[in-house]
Amino acid sequence: MYVVRPAAAAAAAFTALLGFTCTVLGSTAASASAGGPLDGLSGPVVYAHRGASAYAPENTLASIDLAVRLGFRWVENDVQRTRDGELVVIHDDTLARTTNVEQLFPDRSPWKVKDFTAAEIARLDAGSWFGAEFAGARVPTLRQYMVRVQRNQQRLLLEIKKPELYPGIEKQTLELLQETGWLDERHVSQRLVVQSFSADSVRIVHQLRPDLVTAFLGTPKVADLPRYAQFTDRINPWHTTITAEWVAAVHGLLGAHGRAMEVDTWIVDDATTARKVAGMGVDGIITNAPDVVQEAVGGF
Ligand code: G3P
Ligand code: CA
Repeated sequence: MYVVRPAAAAAAAFTALLGFTCTVLGSTAASASAGGPLDGLSGPVVYAHRGASAYAPENTLASIDLAVRLGFRWVENDVQRTRDGELVVIHDDTLARTTNVEQLFPDRSPWKVKDFTAAEIARLDAGSWFGAEFAGARVPTLRQYMVRVQRNQQRLLLEIKKPELYPGIEKQTLELLQETGWLDERHVSQRLVVQSFSADSVRIVHQLRPDLVTAFLGTPKVADLPRYAQFTDRINPWHTTITAEWVAAVHGLLGAHGRAMEVDTWIVDDATTARKVAGMGVDGIITNAPDVVQEAVGGF
């Protein structure tokens, strides 16, 4: 089931702090060694954040193609919705930073994603802002994106971005994943994780598809972790907010699928920080520069 295993450092930290977690949290993951097809690989899982976004325009097909060329299977993205109901892959809730929308639609400030149709967004250049060699890259629809990650044989950490702007986006996203073949057993068990900064959104995804691995983006207090463990499998924090003790506390809980909860931290783009968080025992590192992180701490 779980392909992402805690690194050796995580196990050590967990052992050292087991007493602490037993006391504080009540239920622990002491016997929850998951096993899985990638067991034996060392180092944290490396996630190419918005694709290999240090080297190609974020959240474009070019960024995930580059990730796979660099040897990285896991990519992360951000999903939002257009005015006419199409799911698209883009981080900001406006189109201004990463496209030429201000040139093409000068009277449409503040250029919110939700105020543009899919056809309008399809006309935008989402590559030139990053570099002339990427001119003509598009904001992909989620459908286009899923076809490409499938073709690339990649794995996806899918973020539902700002779900409060898009009522029902969880169900719609799952329907599209179903239509594109991403909710069969093999994908669900090895190739897909759904995450959000919204606990409500993560809870909805878990209720709609209890078999899916989910993650909550944030750094809840240790005392609050058991509540999250009821509906999610992972807690994915900003790297500046964590300590080895906090990581061990997460590992000490059983998540929604009865296995030790995991921690994938973001955004780590330099070797020093990568080594630091790996030493804290994180299971995964989400990075714009996956090659830098892999060089520093191993991983896959
Ligand atoms: O995957 C974690 C990370 O993507 C969260 O932050 O703002 O880049 O979506 P953000
Ligand atoms: Ca994201």
